[in-house]
Amino acid sequence: MAQQTVLVTGGAGYVGSHTVVELLQTGYSVVVVDNCCNAYHQDTNAASNGATEDRNGVGGTRDGKQDDKNGHSNGAGAKNGEGGKVGAKTVLPVALERVEDITGKTLAGFYLISLLDEEALTRVFSEHKIDAVIHFAALKALGESVAMPLEYYINNVAGTLTLLQVMRNAGVKRLVYSSSATVYGLPQYLPTDEDHPTGPGITNPYGRSKYFCEQVMTDLATADKEWGVVLLRYFNPVGAHASGRIGEDPRDTPNNLMPFIAQVAVGRRDAVQVFGQDYPTPDGTGVRDYVHVMDLASGHVAALGLLWKSGFSGAAAYNLGSGKGVSVLEMIHAFTRASGRKIPYVVTGRRAGDVAKMVASCTRAQTDLGWKATRTLDQMCEDTWRWQSQNPQGYA
Ligand code: UD1
Repeated sequence: MAQQTVLVTGGAGYVGSHTVVELLQTGYSVVVVDNCCNAYHQDTNAASNGATEDRNGVGGTRDGKQDDKNGHSNGAGAKNGEGGKVGAKTVLPVALERVEDITGKTLAGFYLISLLDEEALTRVFSEHKIDAVIHFAALKALGESVAMPLEYYINNVAGTLTLLQVMRNAGVKRLVYSSSATVYGLPQYLPTDEDHPTGPGITNPYGRSKYFCEQVMTDLATADKEWGVVLLRYFNPVGAHASGRIGEDPRDTPNNLMPFIAQVAVGRRDAVQVFGQDYPTPDGTGVRDYVHVMDLASGHVAALGLLWKSGFSGAAAYNLGSGKGVSVLEMIHAFTRASGRKIPYVVTGRRAGDVAKMVASCTRAQTDLGWKATRTLDQMCEDTWRWQSQNPQGYA
């Protein structure tokens, strides 16, 4: 069978870049679209205000810029309204340069464009024969989404609608969507399976944007049987590629536990704040289902496998988690073991919107996708530490 081509939106991001590694190693041809609003790129220099940057469209035409060392020539980055020039040389974001180093393979294309730029996106589909899309590109800071709901809905929902429209026009109707356990809101039962209600109890625009996109995709796949959509609901992605060359590189203060712990271990921050020790859990701290990012990456490859099955149509949702609960203190202790560093922590009050416990049921992914998380908590911590200690300031 001819090599299949997958378009990855948001491929320069954390889960995106790890998935691109897995896709290239599996033998897929990969085209990436990213506006680099949250990824380190020497030209855009990774704007810290992703929402504003993304809304306006990032990038500039790549004309006159230095040639990419790997000879990429598909960049069509363009500011809104200025029009991108197809064929100009493109410099890859650092994460993707490293992806190419790790895999020894070259991307079939990289485009520094916003998903809101329908014209530029249409050009991507005309320049490559895309077989399926994996859609990661989105803003994901919860607190910011509460403060800037419109930016979140424009980027995450309108960006997705534009993508779906361009895909339909191009006749590409196979899609893997990067969703989140956040669509379950306050869990009514544990472990949470895919039949759990979605929508009610979501506390922020980021979460609702994921929920809305799932609904749109489901409606679309119901109306037109040619669509095949896999909705992947991630629990708590952590870890890094075992090479230590790519990993999570949050802008500003990390919102999530694992990158915060890693930055304390490496000396960038003084102490971890433990958000509450009065939850009804064994040690009183919040329990979550952490899943290694390379396990998540292989989950996307498994999802593509389902899309290729003849007769598959409609929208199917799968939880991607480990199925195991780990508390905040257990995570701090595991990271201490992995890093050999002292990790000071202070217990503070609960964080608004947090639940005591969230754990996935992953049996459906195992049955239908043949996927199961295999990496342990110690591996999650060791790999995160390798990345953080080799790159104390991230990609900068
Ligand atoms: C959060 C988001 C979720 C998102 C996920 C992954 C909420 C309510 N949900 O999940 O939508 O998909 O991140 O990006 O925020 N903790 C501390 N100290 C810290 C940070 C976290 O004690 O500095 C605790 C939290 O209270 C929680 C656990 O660590 O018990 C995990 O927190 P976090 O990594 O932010 O993930 P979630 O809250 O599960």
